[in-house]
Amino acid sequence: MTGKVALVGAGPGDPKLITVRAVELLQTAQVVIMDRLISKDLLAYCRVDVKIIDAGKEPYKHQMTQDEINAYIIEYAKKGLFVLRLKGGDPYVFGRGFEEVLACQEAGIEVEVVPGVTSAISVPASIGIPITHRGVTQQFSVVSGHVLPSDPRSMVDWKALSKSRGTIVLLMAVTNIQQIAQELIKHGLCEKTPVVSIESAMSPTQRVIYGDLGSIGVISKEQNISPPAIFVIGEVVGLADKL
Ligand SMILES: C[S@@+](CC[C@H](N)C(=O)[O-])C[C@H]1O[C@@H](n2cnc3c(N)ncnc32)[C@H](O)[C@@H]1O
Repeated sequence: MTGKVALVGAGPGDPKLITVRAVELLQTAQVVIMDRLISKDLLAYCRVDVKIIDAGKEPYKHQMTQDEINAYIIEYAKKGLFVLRLKGGDPYVFGRGFEEVLACQEAGIEVEVVPGVTSAISVPASIGIPITHRGVTQQFSVVSGHVLPSDPRSMVDWKALSKSRGTIVLLMAVTNIQQIAQELIKHGLCEKTPVVSIESAMSPTQRVIYGDLGSIGVISKEQNISPPAIFVIGEVVGLADKL
């Protein structure tokens, strides 16, 4: 008999920010396939005989391809096992989670999807920044910065973002932050707009670096900001001072 699969969000790094449903499923999973940014503390919830597979994706250095991950999920589920695919943050926020669901569907395997606390909102909050605040901004955008604005593959409307007056949260943008900041300035966003970079949030190596849109590219190079990091751009960045 075919087993089942759960696609589960592990939250942003702090092991306490996982959902109750995720813990329930971790307690019964027979195979756990996990990503790199996930706290190993979560494995304490697992059965003693659980098989752990480290899918360990690092930026620009994928240890396992998406096809290989899909193949593992399907292989173990077809053996009749309960496979839990544990992904950082929320599985559907730049997590390729839906590709895994589609692969399972094609193989005739049932999938339960458990949302997670996304880093896009919780990481700014962890340092006192609300991504919306009444009277400051009524919208926010979560944007992947892994493709340069000039790249033909880019699907981001940087011009619209620069005019939006909303908070911009950039994920996977460390390499391209200089060009992204310049693109936003080119389209009219003020170079004095506050920016914060939060690197390795909620871990012992967390670093928080403030700047503005005009300086963040240079600061990022000088300070050697490294993934995983989130950049928050907008007036809400200054609100942390009120605490
Ligand atoms: C592939 S995306 C996955 C996002 C994830 N699905 C989520 O909902 O948080 C990975 C990016 O999330 C951001 N990120 C995730 N966890 C983070 C953390 N603890 N500190 C800083 N950035 C983090 C970084 O921008 C990183 O490059």
